[in-house]
Amino acid sequence: MKGIVFTEFIDMVESKFGYGMMDEIIETSNLPSGGVYTAVGTYDHSEMVKLVVELSNRTQIPINELLKSYGKHLLGVFTSGYPQFFENTNDAFSFFEQIDQYIHVEVQKLYPDAELPKFDTNRIDDSTLEMIYTSQRKMSDLAEGLIEATIEFFKENSTVVREDLNPNGTIVKFTITRV
Ligand code: HEM
Repeated sequence: MKGIVFTEFIDMVESKFGYGMMDEIIETSNLPSGGVYTAVGTYDHSEMVKLVVELSNRTQIPINELLKSYGKHLLGVFTSGYPQFFENTNDAFSFFEQIDQYIHVEVQKLYPDAELPKFDTNRIDDSTLEMIYTSQRKMSDLAEGLIEATIEFFKENSTVVREDLNPNGTIVKFTITRV
């Protein structure tokens, strides 16, 4: 997993829960990296899982909620760090359709070792888009936060309904409906 995912997670934890909390979760997580990340480095995905589990233990906030909030934080990082991906799109549905075919393709060129999910999109009708998330990293809660924040970014009003398509969390369907 790319370092930017870790450095931004640390920023979010420090601003929401304080520096003390961040130090504590790094100490107790027993990380191969020692909790030292650079934005361009690559680290084991399991380190992120450990950090989130420790944060959840200490804050009593469920893991899925923490990942969702983190997804919202991350979209803010993407809109300011990669504005070019948002400039040619006027609505959330077209943006979502571009993630797999364009945005994550460009991300992969920038960081050849990035591990990205797959998104299959399907327009059901004018107001409904289905997005199927597939990834061995099981970060659909992060995806949910990113999806909701994207809808807010485009100042739209939509509902997002998730449905797990298998028991282990690697395939999840999101149905997004404009209201
Ligand atoms: C400009 C917009 C975006 C950029 C620049 C971007 C970039 C990235 C980067 C750098 C990673 C980390 C890869 C790694 O750690 O190896 C990532 C992962 C991920 N991205 Fe995107 N992304 C964008 C938009 C989105 C959106 C809108 C969604 C959701 C709808 C999304 C879903 C995910 C998920 C869930 C992961 C975690 C890895 C996984 O689940 O396998 N991304 N993205």
